[in-house]
Amino acid sequence: MSEKRIRDITDLPGVGPSTAQKLIDAGYTTIEAIAVATPRELSEITGIPTLQAQKIIEAAREALDIRVKTALDLKRERMRARRVTTGSKSLDELLGGGVETRTITEFFGEYGTGKTQLCHQLSVNVQLPEDKGGLEAKAAYIDTEGTFRWERIEQMARGVGLDPDKVMENIYWVRAVNSHHQMAVVEKLFDMVGKENIKLVVVDSLTGHFRAEFPGRESLALRQQLLNKHLHQLMRLAEIYDAAVIVTNQVMAVPEMFFGSPDRPVGGHVVGHAPGVRVQLRKSKGNRRIARVVDAPHLPEGETQFAITEFGIRDVE
Ligand SMILES: Nc1ncnc2c1ncn2[C@@H]1O[C@H](COP(=O)(O)OP(=O)(O)O)[C@@H](O)[C@H]1O
Ligand SMILES: [Mg+2]
Repeated sequence: MSEKRIRDITDLPGVGPSTAQKLIDAGYTTIEAIAVATPRELSEITGIPTLQAQKIIEAAREALDIRVKTALDLKRERMRARRVTTGSKSLDELLGGGVETRTITEFFGEYGTGKTQLCHQLSVNVQLPEDKGGLEAKAAYIDTEGTFRWERIEQMARGVGLDPDKVMENIYWVRAVNSHHQMAVVEKLFDMVGKENIKLVVVDSLTGHFRAEFPGRESLALRQQLLNKHLHQLMRLAEIYDAAVIVTNQVMAVPEMFFGSPDRPVGGHVVGHAPGVRVQLRKSKGNRRIARVVDAPHLPEGETQFAITEFGIRDVE
């Protein structure tokens, strides 16, 4: 490799001005984004041969010092993952201390179970100082259903004692109009998340557009393939920028006999294969909701209750 220090993608060997432009246009604006890309992806986007793409990726990885690690390295990285409070101590405890950075947390459940409320609350709470359970950082909110309400953010900001206008200024909102747009927005975020100190990215809902656009059994494979790609993007975002990614997944109650388990979401375990935490939400009496962690590799399975109040997510009184 050349002696030259690699600072941005144009310093990578094999990346000329026109290749650089193609990469940038496709959202690969940083060394990090290229380091975690596949040769095929890069080759398709830029038209350069796969072998050359491979070399560019290797150079990016070398520049970033991505290498084989020991289990202890992994432990140290895990310890560096930070957490954002949900507003409920008992829900935080269930999650091992709050939602985690470098991870995708999926909230799934029926309509009205509090998925969107949790997304709002976390977008506020990430702005809190660390000793109050936040990361003193901003949020990005990808709204696919038009259910984001600034009024709710205002209430929740007051609820945690922050200046509502400042809180609203620190939440970047974008309405994704279809699945393609939704994925393009995430690519765009690779530009912004680092620069703007965004530590929480919400996709509410992850699955809505995909379900609507690819209905029925015959399109299930394609839908799943695109969703996997989308999750892969989000995982990269979480890892590269040490951000918490929150996604929601609306599921319907399924007659038990169909799938063997009433807890299994329609459409399968979307996040099942991505590293992350899945939280099932159910309604209880009044404003109470039940949260249950499923399939988390490092968390014990268990459930707890929380409440949705005027001022946001709280413990049950
Ligand atoms: N301002 C508010 N004060 C108290 N509770 C609220 C308020 N806004 C919404 N909620 C509660 O949140 C519930 C909706 O939760 P939501 O997160 O939108 O569900 P979903 O899981 O469908 O996204 C409502 O049923 C209501 O109980
Ligand atoms: Mg919702």
